[in-house]
Amino acid sequence: MKLVILATLIALATAVDTKIQKFSAQLRPHLNKDAEIYLPGTDGYNTAAQRWSASTNPGFIGIVKVVAEEDVQSVIKAANALKIPYLAITGGHGTTSSLNTFKDGIGIYLRGLASTTLSGSTEKGPVAVVKGGSLSGEVIDYVWSQGKTLVAGACACTGFISPMLGGGHGWLQGQYGVMSDNLISARVVLANGSAITVSNAENSDLYWGLRGAGHNFGIVTSVNYQVYDRKSEADNGFATATYIFTQDKLELIFSIANEWIGAPSRPVELTHYAVFVNVPEIDPTHPIIQFLVYWQGSSIPSQYTDPLNALGPINVNRIFVDLPGASVLTGADINGQACMKGAGHFQAPVDLLKWDTQNLRTVLGIYAELPSAGLGDSIMMLEGFAVNRVHAISEDSTAFPSREYNILASPLLTFAPHNELLENRAQAYGKRIRAAMLNNTEGPLSAYVNYANGEETQEEVYGSESWRVQRLRDLKKKYDAEGKFSYYQPIKA
Ligand SMILES: Cc1cc2nc3c(=O)[nH]c(=O)nc-3n(C[C@H](O)[C@H](O)[C@H](O)COP(=O)(O)OP(=O)(O)OC[C@H]3O[C@@H](n4cnc5c(N)ncnc54)[C@H](O)[C@@H]3O)c2cc1C
Ligand SMILES: *[C@@H]1O[C@H](CO)[C@@H](O)[C@H](O)[C@H]1NC(C)=O
Ligand SMILES: *[C@@H]1O[C@H](CO)[C@@H](O)[C@H](O)[C@H]1NC(C)=O
Repeated sequence: MKLVILATLIALATAVDTKIQKFSAQLRPHLNKDAEIYLPGTDGYNTAAQRWSASTNPGFIGIVKVVAEEDVQSVIKAANALKIPYLAITGGHGTTSSLNTFKDGIGIYLRGLASTTLSGSTEKGPVAVVKGGSLSGEVIDYVWSQGKTLVAGACACTGFISPMLGGGHGWLQGQYGVMSDNLISARVVLANGSAITVSNAENSDLYWGLRGAGHNFGIVTSVNYQVYDRKSEADNGFATATYIFTQDKLELIFSIANEWIGAPSRPVELTHYAVFVNVPEIDPTHPIIQFLVYWQGSSIPSQYTDPLNALGPINVNRIFVDLPGASVLTGADINGQACMKGAGHFQAPVDLLKWDTQNLRTVLGIYAELPSAGLGDSIMMLEGFAVNRVHAISEDSTAFPSREYNILASPLLTFAPHNELLENRAQAYGKRIRAAMLNNTEGPLSAYVNYANGEETQEEVYGSESWRVQRLRDLKKKYDAEGKFSYYQPIKA
């Protein structure tokens, strides 16, 4: 019996070996000389396969480090010929559960195709050319060093392009829209290996879909991206105040934030970003509330800080940060806590119009219950980015579906890797937290695609209007009928 199993295992292992060997042999002559094919067990493979979340495990029989668009085309053509699935990898932060349905495939590791330059301009400002595998922090640092500014993900370690393909939230979205609103054109390698330009002028149907549901249609090797001159004081960075409050202040804090959100002319300069986190040294029985105020400009007008000061925070830390420094405050710089790879994670995002202090109170109570030994590093993310420009752009102009909201909230449950018991508990807590956040809210769930966990419906991540998902299905039929790009919030044709 044992021998039979062993023989079967060897046969299986050999089959996989042969497949990757056959693939490598076919592919190698078509690759640039600096491209590499990594086999499991090698350092190159381990680096490329490493995920931010240990709960996300796409299965690779080999990973190709590409250095040019033609390499991406060659990998796709060779993999298609041998019927092997493939998956792009940039920052490795994607967490949706459908990534775990990717098995025995080829990773297309884009980090060898990463650079940013400035080239030309539009009437709005300079244009950055960003290659497919660039990280968010790399693009921000370069553009800033050239005296320009841009909207980019608020986390230095994620890919730059992949957040943009789902919209892309970042510090300056109030002024310039979400990331996808700044996409001028993209080079995309499609499922049949063809490389096309996608813009308002070329393949404009796909230009619509790429800006919100872009992971579904191809691999983006390069984008022309709108960046902006830094013209005024307000473009040079943010005055910030980080408040630490005890939990009893919750209702008062978020009532203040609701006044900001509801103001008839909401200041584009103002972003707030709050976190519930258990810090037993400060409060052994309840989470504390960290409340960050970002003001684009040299100092926060006192009308925004006085009411918070009056609540009696435990601590206030006020510093000025430039755009590259903005992620440091949330621990999302490249060496920060949020960028650390390897723990298990579960998220359950909701888009909201305003804060519901009763619901937040319920959620805070759930965080107080979390077992400190297993889930103690978990936080509740309560993001109130400015939205002025996001709201101003017409909702049918791109596939990004959730413009009307003011708030992005999600539990970020964190636990020891590969611990099924904790993972199950985290998921159960995550679902409870999401349900609590939605209590008494109107309308269907809207879940930001890049935070979504994979349990959501197509409408919940891509928009509830029936024409929207239908339009995406039609595009899927046209550009990826066989569903080769179906491992990240897949649209079902
Ligand atoms: C710590 C952290 C901070 C975050 N901060 C933000 C934030 O500030 N704003 C925000 O909007 N989102 C944020 N996110 C969510 C983020 O948008 C997604 O996690 C995103 O998928 C990460 O992209 P990646 O390249 O790092 O991950 P990957 O897992 O490498 O890629 C994600 C998906 O995109 C595909 N992909 C990668 N590169 C390309 C490409 N060039 N062309 C086509 N497909 C590609 C991959 O195949 C995969 O399916 C954050 C996530 C984490 C974990
Ligand atoms: C929803 O809110 C009501 C109060 O309006 C409360 O009684 C109920 O317990 C809440 N339910 C959940 C799941 O939080
Ligand atoms: C590849 O697919 C696109 C989109 O479906 C199509 O327009 C193009 O003709 C195809 N190219 C080849 C070489 O088949």
